[in-house]
Amino acid sequence: MEEIAIGASGLKASRIGLGTWAMGGWMWGGADEAESIATVRAAVERGITLIDTAPAYGFGRSEEIVGKALAVAGMRDKVLIATKVGLDWKDGKVFRNSSPARIRKEVEDSLRRLQTDVIDIYQVHWPDLETPFAETAQVMEDLRREGKVRAIGVSNYSPAQMEQFREVARLDCVQPPYNLFEREIEADVAPYAERAGLTVLSYGAICRGLLSGRMNLKTKFDGDDLRKVDPKFQGRRYPQYLAAVHALDVLARERFGKSVLALAVRWVLDRGPTIALWGARSQGQLDPTGEIDGWRIDEATMREIDAILASAISDPVSPAFMAPPERRPPDVNLAAA
Ligand SMILES: NC(=O)c1ccc[n+]([C@@H]2O[C@H](COP(=O)([O-])OP(=O)(O)OC[C@H]3O[C@@H](n4cnc5c(N)ncnc54)[C@H](OP(=O)(O)O)[C@@H]3O)[C@@H](O)[C@H]2O)c1
Repeated sequence: MEEIAIGASGLKASRIGLGTWAMGGWMWGGADEAESIATVRAAVERGITLIDTAPAYGFGRSEEIVGKALAVAGMRDKVLIATKVGLDWKDGKVFRNSSPARIRKEVEDSLRRLQTDVIDIYQVHWPDLETPFAETAQVMEDLRREGKVRAIGVSNYSPAQMEQFREVARLDCVQPPYNLFEREIEADVAPYAERAGLTVLSYGAICRGLLSGRMNLKTKFDGDDLRKVDPKFQGRRYPQYLAAVHALDVLARERFGKSVLALAVRWVLDRGPTIALWGARSQGQLDPTGEIDGWRIDEATMREIDAILASAISDPVSPAFMAPPERRPPDVNLAAA
C-alpha cells in the first residue's frame, strides 16, 4: 500500500486510513462490537497502518474498541493511532472545549482507552473560539515534548487559525472534510497545507457511504444515523447526488475497470499529499482496498469528473451540518464528528 510522511514528524503511514467513527455507534444507528474489532484487525492485515478515532465517537466507545482490537491481536506496533481532543459532552450533547484543563484530562482518558502509552497523531477536533489558540497549541506542544504524543494535528481549522496555532506549536497534519462532493478545502486549506508541509488526512472519503455505490432512493437508515439529517441525503438533493454516483460509476468501470468507491478513494489520493480516511464497520467493507493502488486518474479524466459533478448536481451543499456548537451550556442536540 502507498505510504506518506506525516508532516515533519518522522512518522509514515499508509495513504488509506481506517475511520472508526461508526464503530462508536453514536450517530450511525449503533454498532456491533465484535464485528468492529474484526474490522480493525482486517484493516491492519490488509496493510492499513493508520487508524483514526476520537473520544467523541460513542463517548469513548470507538477508542476502546481500537485499543482492545490492537492489544488482543498484538498489533499496536504495526499502526499509527490518530485520535482527537477538544470536544466535551454533557447528557449526550457534544460541544467544543480545547482549554488546557480539558486537554490534560482527555489525553489521560484516551491513553487508557487506547491501551497505549503514546498517541501517534493527536488532533484538535474542532476550533474552540473561547480558548486562545496559543493556549491550546502550547499544551499540545507540551504533550509532544513530554512524549505523550508524537505528531500534532488540527481538524476543521481555517488557514488563519492554523497560522495562529503554528506560532506556538509544530503542526504536522490537518484533518478537513474532502471527497468528490465536498471540495471546499481546495480554495484555502489544501493550498495552505501544501505550503506549510502539512499532510492532509481527508475525512469522509466516500461521503458517508454516498460514494460507495450502495445507496439508492429506497435505502433506509436506522436509529440516530446522521444520514437521516445529512442534507445530501434529503429531498431534491439526494437524487442529484445519486445521479452523479451513477455517472461516475459508469466512467470508473469503462475507463479503469473499477468501482465508483475505488474511483472516489483514488481521486482523494491523486489530489495532493493526502490520506483518505475511509470509515468501515464490517470486514467486507474493506474488500475494495485492493482496488486502489497501481493506477492514477489522468488530467483529462479529472476534467470529465468535474463535468459530471457540475451537470448532475445543480444544488450542492457543504458538510457544515456536522459542526458542533461552541462551548456553552449545550441546548441543541447538534451533530459532531
Ligand atoms: N475530524 C472530523 O471532524 C471528522 C468528521 C467525520 C469523519 N471523520 C473521520 O473520518 C472517517 C471517515 O469518515 P466517515 O466514516 O464519516 O465517512 P466515510 O468514510 O465517507 O463513509 C463511511 C461509511 O461508508 C459506508 N461504507 C464503507 N465502506 C463501504 C463499502 N465497501 N460498501 C458500501 N458502504 C461502505 C459505511 O456505512 P454503512 O455501514 O452505514 O453502510 C461506512 O460507515 C471517520 O470514521 C472518522 O475517523 C472525522
